[in-house]
Amino acid sequence: MSALLKAVGVGKSYSLRGKRVDVLRDVDLAVHGGEITALVGHSGSGKSTLLHILGLLTPPDQGQVLLDGTDTTGSPDAALADLRRAKLGFVFQSYNLLPQHSALRNVALPFTGRHREGEARARDLLARVGLAERADHQPGELSGGEQQRVALARALINDPPVVLADEPTGNLDTDSERLLLDLFRELADEGRAVVLVTHNQTVCDLADTVHRLEDGRLATQAPATERRESTATAQDPETETTP
Ligand SMILES: Nc1ncnc2c1ncn2[C@@H]1O[C@H](COP(=O)(O)OP(=O)(O)O)[C@@H](O)[C@H]1O
Ligand SMILES: [Mg+2]
Repeated sequence: MSALLKAVGVGKSYSLRGKRVDVLRDVDLAVHGGEITALVGHSGSGKSTLLHILGLLTPPDQGQVLLDGTDTTGSPDAALADLRRAKLGFVFQSYNLLPQHSALRNVALPFTGRHREGEARARDLLARVGLAERADHQPGELSGGEQQRVALARALINDPPVVLADEPTGNLDTDSERLLLDLFRELADEGRAVVLVTHNQTVCDLADTVHRLEDGRLATQAPATERRESTATAQDPETETTP
């Protein structure tokens, strides 16, 4: 299957008090529809930077980002904004909800179609993330985990083929986490490419591919199912002899 989203030779550096920090070096990554990709790595390893580059929010210093076959390199801001609206759903680590608007309005705001339809879709999406009863609450009247779920509902408003989320289970209790993980699996099963930055082992176990960022470079681990099988074999010597 061809990749929905691709990073090719991506590099990014920041200059901090005269010192150059190479955050990403020569990163190649391809994410496919129908799959959950997890990005892991210690704090400061560049996960958010890479996710923002994949989300066309930060341009890379080197390399290209290809979205659904379109090379986005050097595209004007307005064209990037159009592409983001049509093809990408981005869940920010800090949610980025507008404080003066209700949950419903926050979710409906980026909708590109008719107002009525946007509100109806927003209601459905809030129900899907378990927040049907919170549609009229403003972000300040919601817990961190609830705001996180509103942010995910907003990311889905234009039915994007690619969903990117930065630590989406960071603030959730076990029940909400289960609900969200089931939702991510559903989104992938619908054919979307889902990319999750995470520290959470449960999320890694759910992922089809896990990439680890180390010293700005990407190392890819085996898919979760293969990892599970190989640990089972290693830990259980009877596995091979069991008929
Ligand atoms: N706008 C910026 N200016 C300078 N340095 C930055 C900027 N954004 C990120 N960095 C640095 O880049 C590194 C990677 O940051 P980030 O991508 O946020 O890591 P992670 O999400 O893995 O914790 C960190 O050392 C951070 O300090
Ligand atoms: Mg981060």
